[in-house]
Amino acid sequence: MRTVYVNGKYVPENEASVSIFDRAFLFADAVYEVTSVLEGKLIDFHGHMTRLERSIRELGINFTVDSDALLAIHRELISKNNITEGLVYLQVSRGAASDRDFMFPASDVEPGLVLFTQAKSLIKSAAADRGLKVASFPDQRWRRCDIKTVQLLYSSLVKNEAAKKGADDAWLVLDGKVTEGSSNNAYIVDENNTIITRELSNDILHGITRKAILQCAAELDLKVEERAFTIAEAQKAKEAFITSASSFVYPVVEIDDVKIGEGTPGPIAKRLREIYIEANLAAAI
Ligand code: PDD
Repeated sequence: MRTVYVNGKYVPENEASVSIFDRAFLFADAVYEVTSVLEGKLIDFHGHMTRLERSIRELGINFTVDSDALLAIHRELISKNNITEGLVYLQVSRGAASDRDFMFPASDVEPGLVLFTQAKSLIKSAAADRGLKVASFPDQRWRRCDIKTVQLLYSSLVKNEAAKKGADDAWLVLDGKVTEGSSNNAYIVDENNTIITRELSNDILHGITRKAILQCAAELDLKVEERAFTIAEAQKAKEAFITSASSFVYPVVEIDDVKIGEGTPGPIAKRLREIYIEANLAAAI
């Protein structure tokens, strides 16, 4: 059984509890981070903490990100649960008021902090080997997708709808252009080997893996264009792929039943995955 962290205590998962008045539960009033673990070490931990700090600031949650303290909790959970490869989930909520109220609670209400680990094989991955099929859906999320909130119902809905269509994931389309995947950033590669991915704005999550992958692309002397693209353009691309902390890089081999290139994982996505893993493993803490 897993040991999890809830509001200052390490407890067995079946003894963990939070108040039913916690605003994460009632209003999705919480933000989160997912940090990957390779060889028992955290990948890009400080990148995740910087984004956490920004999410918290954007929502005015009364929580101070103490990176050293949070690093210690991450490490303790990795150790207690013997995680060599997997993920650490961290969630900060605005806390539990004494009742359900749309107004934020008084400033003396303690914010909530929950962390848990998930064991997962990240380097060896069937999805990386075979590539993903994606289906497109209208992007009907709220328009602050740059804040990593736990308000994930629409993303979860479309991922399930994609599965019903025989696809592995959903790509979201806003005003005719792809924003991102249900829980990842989306990319295509054109005939000149230029990598195209939507520019940063409130319409997408500013992926920690995205930033690292664009650096890897620069190291490979690949051009990058940060701009929006359509599903039709993606279907004609040489390659397509996604990135996230839980996948690193997965090739995309089919979009709305149209094969991308040969319909098999492309060399650029494969190479980016390899150098991302190599560089980030070396820098893991
Ligand atoms: N999701 N876009 C969305 C909507 C996401 O939910 C995520 C991450 C990303 C990629 O961000 P990063 O590279 O920092 O992981 C992009 C996490 C993994 C999740 O919800 O499980």
